[in-house]
Amino acid sequence: MLENISIFASMDAADHALIEQCMVKRVFPRHTIILSEGDSSDSLYLILDGKVKVFLNDENGKEAILNYQTAGEYFGELSLIDDSERSASIMTVEKSTMAVMSKQAFHQVLKKNPDIAIHLLKDLAQRVRSLTDEVKSLALCDVYGRLSKTLQGMAIEQDGKMVIEESFTQQELANRIGASREMVCRIFKDLVKGGYISSGQHQTIINKRLPLRY
Ligand code: CMP
Repeated sequence: MLENISIFASMDAADHALIEQCMVKRVFPRHTIILSEGDSSDSLYLILDGKVKVFLNDENGKEAILNYQTAGEYFGELSLIDDSERSASIMTVEKSTMAVMSKQAFHQVLKKNPDIAIHLLKDLAQRVRSLTDEVKSLALCDVYGRLSKTLQGMAIEQDGKMVIEESFTQQELANRIGASREMVCRIFKDLVKGGYISSGQHQTIINKRLPLRY
């Protein structure tokens, strides 16, 4: 189960087999809430297959999407490190398979394997950097700036074109950049009209460099 999980990549097959003994494999249907912000819990989740959304919401149901995670990534480590509540909620975006590890087993693995602890620290450093970048965008960019940055960040070059393979709704995009769906919809329409992007059912193509300003 573990050879494709980034945090355990430095271990050999024998160590993987030992750790796997203290894990349970679980399959979650699409749209299952796995953790809720504020919960107390004591498990680490390794994504073997599928995709989850990391998000926050308020009492009116308004949602802010922090991240998406896919196979090979993990979540639920923060509250195991600082013995605190879950910092965000996690929901499956599609049917997903997880290996679930107890807090006790996770702590034992960290104590015995400094390489894993260093990997975890590097991942945390990257998370802080990405949050710093988000704060910068929220504080210094307008909605158009945030949207164009996000679209360009999601795109991957394919045969000379920038393609976004992920399917998303305009509401999801709005939740990701902290804007209203109406505003995202308006900008999207104008970008399509100007020939900057083409939007299909399963992919979005960025045809040319997006304008610096709206
Ligand atoms: P934990 O706080 O235990 O439970 C929620 C999990 O969401 C958290 O651990 C992290 O694994 C993950 N998480 C929280 N905030 C972020 C973020 N900004 N980016 C990516 N993942 C996050």
